[in-house]
Amino acid sequence: MEIQKNVSLKPYNTFGIDLPAQEFLEIESVTTLQQVLQLANRPEFFVLSGGSNLLLTAPLKALVLYMNIQGKEILKDDGQTAIVQAMAGENWHELVMWSLSMGLGGLENLALIPGKCGTTPIQNIGAYGVELKDVFYACEALEIATGRICRFTPEECNFGYRDSFFKREGKGAYIITSIALRLSKTNHKLSTSYGAIQSELSQRGIESPTPMDVAEAVIAIRQSKLPDPKVLGNSGSFFKNPVISTTEYTALKNRFPELPGYPQKDEMTKVPAGWLIEKCGFKGYRKGDAGVHVKQALVLVNYGTASGQELLELAQSIQDKVRNTYGIELTPEVNII
Ligand code: EPU
Repeated sequence: MEIQKNVSLKPYNTFGIDLPAQEFLEIESVTTLQQVLQLANRPEFFVLSGGSNLLLTAPLKALVLYMNIQGKEILKDDGQTAIVQAMAGENWHELVMWSLSMGLGGLENLALIPGKCGTTPIQNIGAYGVELKDVFYACEALEIATGRICRFTPEECNFGYRDSFFKREGKGAYIITSIALRLSKTNHKLSTSYGAIQSELSQRGIESPTPMDVAEAVIAIRQSKLPDPKVLGNSGSFFKNPVISTTEYTALKNRFPELPGYPQKDEMTKVPAGWLIEKCGFKGYRKGDAGVHVKQALVLVNYGTASGQELLELAQSIQDKVRNTYGIELTPEVNII
């Protein structure tokens, strides 16, 4: 177990914030993770995964456990569906492409999402009409208090929009070590109703798409709207899309007739945060190296040397303006540390 001292976290967060970790340990096996947790005088620790949903605003004093446990395999195959397992440190997009290359369906809409497999259940990643919960079979996690490996069913994960048990009751109590997904081998159920996917497929002249065709369309859409973190630091959507009561939505719609809204269950309506931010004049805004993406107002970007504090101040000024204009509170989707 080799603990490194004073390690720059710049390569480990997609915003590219250059802050150090006082102590840093790469975790390559579940056994090492268990050993760390059993250490007498166990130091305070911080679990770091793909760093793609993280805004660092201060150096990390806790021991950083960088989750890099590798391995993926097909656990079961009944001819109709296959259960695929991936260890926490596997790159998510590589898992998506690997499953598609074997003819498995289910992950096509979730192509090109940055990050590692272990964190996908925490916020129930989602894109283009599909969420992780739609294919989720189970996950395993280390219970920090006992060192035991626990298994979680979809019900126990209690998924919501960018939300799960691991963000609420289970927060800070578990470290996810692997995930298992149920994917289709035949009769793929494709979700192509999200507007941009349909038009992308038609443009390509594809009428009966395969899961791989859908993934390629999704990749093209993402590349046209969302910045590549390797080129321009960012953390995807910075805020969640706010969900307000339909009564409140209707009242707002009277004042702002163009306000888009997507009906949800329980008389609630989801409003696109990107629209609110754009209408508040922030799309393409830049102060120093902290900015709002020119093509997607929900994405904050680091043009080079922005500090986490500068990005946080920008996020706060966006929240203030949206609150003052629309009376809507934007909640960050990224973890601010
Ligand atoms: N919009 C604007 N201006 C903008 C951006 C968006 O007016 O600059 C409005 C438009 O009305 C547009 C609507 O917002 O129709 C929705 O935009 P988009 O399809 O780009 O999706 P989003 O709601 O902004 C969500 C997810 C993304 C996911 C896309 C596609 C959240 C917080 N974000 O974004 O997820 O890729 O849908 O499904 O739910 C992420 O979580 O990091 C992420 C990128």
